[in-house]
Amino acid sequence: MHPATAVTPEEPAVATTGGSRFVRACLRRPVDRTPVWFLRQAGRYMPEYMAVRQHHSLLDICRTPEIAAEVTITAAERLGVDAAIIFADLLLPFTPMGLDFEFVAGEGPQVHTPVRSLEHVAAIRTDRADELTYVARSIERVAAYFAAPRADGDTLGIIGFCGAPFTLASYMIEGGSSRNYIETKKMMYSDSAGWPLLMEKLVTVLAAFAAQQVEAGADVIQIFDSWAGALSVADYRQYCLAWTTELVQRVKALGVPVIYFGVDTASLLPAMRETTADVIGLDWRVPLDIGWKAVGEGCAVQGNLDPITLFAPGDVLELRVRAVLAAAGRRPGHIFNLGHGIVPGTPVESVVRVVELVKEYGRHG
Ligand code: CP3
Repeated sequence: MHPATAVTPEEPAVATTGGSRFVRACLRRPVDRTPVWFLRQAGRYMPEYMAVRQHHSLLDICRTPEIAAEVTITAAERLGVDAAIIFADLLLPFTPMGLDFEFVAGEGPQVHTPVRSLEHVAAIRTDRADELTYVARSIERVAAYFAAPRADGDTLGIIGFCGAPFTLASYMIEGGSSRNYIETKKMMYSDSAGWPLLMEKLVTVLAAFAAQQVEAGADVIQIFDSWAGALSVADYRQYCLAWTTELVQRVKALGVPVIYFGVDTASLLPAMRETTADVIGLDWRVPLDIGWKAVGEGCAVQGNLDPITLFAPGDVLELRVRAVLAAAGRRPGHIFNLGHGIVPGTPVESVVRVVELVKEYGRHG
């Protein structure tokens, strides 16, 4: 049997529905229609989210399962997407690892004491991942809410997530967002004890965090390596690939597909595929068919509309959505998404319109 149509024994090879079309696509099984969801689908562009944000900080929302679940559910239902990504943040594991941080309005995250020495790496804790179980409690609520199939018979997919070791290390070491990653690369190149120790500690905590999310009902785990594109292929291979692969394999061993996503990764795609992730997220700079060729047919892909296309007039938006679908060519294993997150100011109607277009033009068979 061709691996793209591999199915479990109890499932007939012809089935294109049943369960979740999102999960099926992650596994490159046939689907009735291309599934669609959006990076940052619950965010500041959405009035419903901003209404909640008026009364709660970002971290309060993340750490309060009732509110995090509500925000997750509201966005998924408002948009009519096929998957809900749990409302949380990449940096949440920093707290149990012993690093204090805050989100400063307009400036993004700030780590109070950035990690710059082997001594500091050695002091990072890996034994308190159980303090993150509030995310699992949010997932349980979302999974219970979406347990029954929707009107079209499809069950909404629940996505848990965590950061990849490199991207999280970059926030730990820089202390926040960065343009050139100088401190991160300095440690990477020069601290032959500190860098591997930091990567290893991150993998330990992230694997435990992902396991909590899967146990709580996440169908798929997305690993965000948002800033891996700052690395040359040689540096990615030398300083990141082994640890990221270890994380991917530990998550896959939990029995769920893994989506591995980064931005500006065109040259890294073949190496990213070596992590053995089931799905590779493509940013919009690489044409989808070329990106898919780079990762190989044995892998599913997610993407890759430019999020700023959501500001274009309707006719341009429609052309671009149809071009992404055409590049995927109805091959099993495409999940429609943006090439990166929805930005503040994006018209909600445009996002809803994309869902409608994928429902109209993404039918298979
Ligand atoms: O629907 C969703 O996707 C929301 C859940 C979500 C958030 N953060 C909530 C959030 C997810 C999946 C993330 C992941 C995340 N967090 C990433 C990777 C995603 C990517 O874009 O590649 C990163 C790099 C972070 C770290 C982070 N969190 C930054 C750099 C910022 C500041 C961004 C800014 O523009 O200020 C955040 C804040 C954040 N996390 C917001 C949201 C909705 C916006 C700020 C707010 O609501 O106050």
